[in-house]
Amino acid sequence: MKNRFSLLSLLWTLLIFSGCSSRQVLSSDYNVIPLPVSISLQEEGTPFVLKPSTVVYCPEGDSLLLKNAELLTGYVARQVGFELRITHDDQARNIIRLGSGLQAENAEAYTLVVTPQAVEIEGASAAGTFYGVQTLRKSLPVTDGKVRIALAPVRIEDAPRFSYRGLHLDVARHMFPVEFIKKYIDLLALHNMNMFHWHLTDDQGWRIEIKRYPRLTEVGGWRKATLVSHWEKPDHKYDETPYGGYYTQDEIRDIVRYAADRHVEIVPEIDLPGHMLAALAAYPELGCTGGPYETGTRWGVYDDVLCAGKEEVYEFLEGVFSEIVALFPGRYIHIGGDECPKTRWKSCPDCQAFIRSHGIVSQGKRTREEQLQSYMMSQISDFLGKHGRKVIGWDEILEGGGVKSATIMSWRGTQGGVDAARNGWDAIMVPYQYLYLDYAQSRDEGEPLSIGGYLPLSKVYSYEPLSGELASNPEMGAHVIGVQGNLWTEYFRTAELVEYMAIPRVDAVSEIQWTRPERKNYEKFLGRLNRMRALYDRLGYGYASHGFDEGQSGDNQDM
Ligand code: ACM
Ligand code: ZN
Repeated sequence: MKNRFSLLSLLWTLLIFSGCSSRQVLSSDYNVIPLPVSISLQEEGTPFVLKPSTVVYCPEGDSLLLKNAELLTGYVARQVGFELRITHDDQARNIIRLGSGLQAENAEAYTLVVTPQAVEIEGASAAGTFYGVQTLRKSLPVTDGKVRIALAPVRIEDAPRFSYRGLHLDVARHMFPVEFIKKYIDLLALHNMNMFHWHLTDDQGWRIEIKRYPRLTEVGGWRKATLVSHWEKPDHKYDETPYGGYYTQDEIRDIVRYAADRHVEIVPEIDLPGHMLAALAAYPELGCTGGPYETGTRWGVYDDVLCAGKEEVYEFLEGVFSEIVALFPGRYIHIGGDECPKTRWKSCPDCQAFIRSHGIVSQGKRTREEQLQSYMMSQISDFLGKHGRKVIGWDEILEGGGVKSATIMSWRGTQGGVDAARNGWDAIMVPYQYLYLDYAQSRDEGEPLSIGGYLPLSKVYSYEPLSGELASNPEMGAHVIGVQGNLWTEYFRTAELVEYMAIPRVDAVSEIQWTRPERKNYEKFLGRLNRMRALYDRLGYGYASHGFDEGQSGDNQDM
């Protein structure tokens, strides 16, 4: 089996092929990332031949499948070099048929069946079909259009392991053009990821237009300088150049639509009550001391946070979130909750009066100020609940006794996720030790400046979200709804650097999210990963090439 498959996984060339005159025929395989649940390949069978006259069928009047068909023809044009026609005639010859009538428990499931006459992709929903389309396009070689492509008969059955499959991007520390945000969403789609966690605000910049509070972007969207040395090293160096910008609401709506077409839901994050210095610079009355404040120029955690004792702060937050809810139709809104020092609250007359008047008391090890944070987060959660949304918060929000019905994003390790699951809350696993893609991926001295740490591809790949109690207690395990890779951008000013940090570790993240653990195998993954390289080149993504170099030994492996 091993040798037989390795033959196929090479893109061998046939010069003579029945029905194809003497054109080159490249053979495709199904050696994709993330690896599907099952692939039953008939290597010796007569293949389906993909050629310029191949048509893509979708039923008339089904706008979701039409979108899938359009995306597929776009992918094929870019990768293979010829444009396929879309048809509503399901009897056409040499046809790729898209349907969404698969009966399956998992709404994101699909089957992909290749026969000599047709490629059939049947999703349990249009999203499922979309993942079948992704598997098909990743199975195709990257060529120049002067070829035919032979697809061996196969039956692929597939469905994701986790329903929440996320990738995060911080645009507060550095921001990136709309076109790059779309390219990043394309990267999610390529990996069957469905949640884009968009970190829109932080101490160093507020990046989303809020009509009711224009100073958030006019003032909070700008900082006077940027730290260009490492924040933990002495002798901070700044570039002394103002830096800023923001996304308009029209741009946000455009990006939301772009993502939805690719079955990606955007989770916007407004990080509170800490990481709010940019908002305080814009509206100093929202802080405990009244300022003045300046948008942050260095990285790290600031003591100045939103005052939790003033009614006007709660009004401000409701004003902001009203606009967020109107812009983002997804199920989740992320309200942050991480790294909020309680220094100011302890000496703020408003916060202390609020604690007394609201009967907020310490509980065990939890201080009154921690309880105050829980109170604030719960208020916002209730407000968003009235708008039909669920909140996500970083695992610190467990510290004040938790926020009812919040989903916990476990970043300081896995304990937050375990505690959440034990208490019946959903959890998303993002432990920094495995999933922080801003960590250095090599010990090489030539690596770009980053936050530090050491997180090689192999370590990302090794992460198993359901371990310990989460594995032994299925009820708890069921609360782990997914996994996400996080990309903070303190040290990454350019899109090229973001891509370098993301790729190829994003590939490893996607197999944690999608592929069952018994199917995972690092060596074989590296073989599949090498295949992605040509695709990244064609699509214009940069990457850390040493990640792929690790893959030399893993090429030509059986899956
Ligand atoms: C975080 O990394 N501060 C959530
Ligand atoms: Zn206060």
